[in-house]
Amino acid sequence: MLERIKETASYISSRLKAKPDTAIVLGSGLGGLVNEIEVIEKIPYNEIPHFPVSTVAGHAGMLIFGRLGNRHVLAMQGRFHYYEGWSMQEVTFPFRVMKLMGVETLIISNAAGGLNPDYQVGDIMLISDHINLFPEHPLRGKNEDSLGPRFPDMSEVYTAELRAKAKEKAKELGIHLQEGIYAGVTGPTFETPAEYYYLRVIGADAVGMSTVPEAIVAAHMGMKIIAFSIISDLGIPGIVEKITHEEVLKAAQATEPKLTAVLKGIL
Ligand code: HPA
Repeated sequence: MLERIKETASYISSRLKAKPDTAIVLGSGLGGLVNEIEVIEKIPYNEIPHFPVSTVAGHAGMLIFGRLGNRHVLAMQGRFHYYEGWSMQEVTFPFRVMKLMGVETLIISNAAGGLNPDYQVGDIMLISDHINLFPEHPLRGKNEDSLGPRFPDMSEVYTAELRAKAKEKAKELGIHLQEGIYAGVTGPTFETPAEYYYLRVIGADAVGMSTVPEAIVAAHMGMKIIAFSIISDLGIPGIVEKITHEEVLKAAQATEPKLTAVLKGIL
């Protein structure tokens, strides 16, 4: 595994003129952030050795390198979801590569179903912690000791210092941030009413089909992580409604400017 990660990291590094310090996953809700980046280089995923190529509508595959604030950012436009059929190693491969390239901070966004009865569609939830409900663990198998420990601590996956900064910036901008626990599930089905209820009972505030694998792998390597969910639908007893991917994307896009503003503030 390490050989492939090194090959990919040196290929990408050879195409960039500077070292990235921050990576951003432009999930549903952060796509517009691309327009804020002073783009230096764009690399389609299919030109990158060993990189998977995304298939889902609404998730183009492009690595974008540039300046944002006083940072050199490497943005992933398009992520790899477990439900697409990728293995956990494939889903998390780009984050291994980024770490080897020198990235220290990871910013993740996603769209999620709200479970907390105080939440509304369009809310932004800062992820404080997660519950991993994926059936396969990204760290299962031989541990690469040079990347991180066999039994990694998970007591603070989402860096408290970055969360405090996000809350401060949001307050300055007059943007309300929820803060809560994200349950990561496989999908691709949305949940039944009984499943939404179950997820709430076990302590989650929102549910989605991404983020947890990449956060685990980034935490394994000691990266600082901050992640946001845009609440795109509600799985709250009595108000679970029929939902489509289009509605999720629409809700996420409507909230995107607010989340973009918070992120720019942090960077
Ligand atoms: N459930 C799971 N994943 C999701 C949802 C949801 O309700 N909304 C957006 N992603």
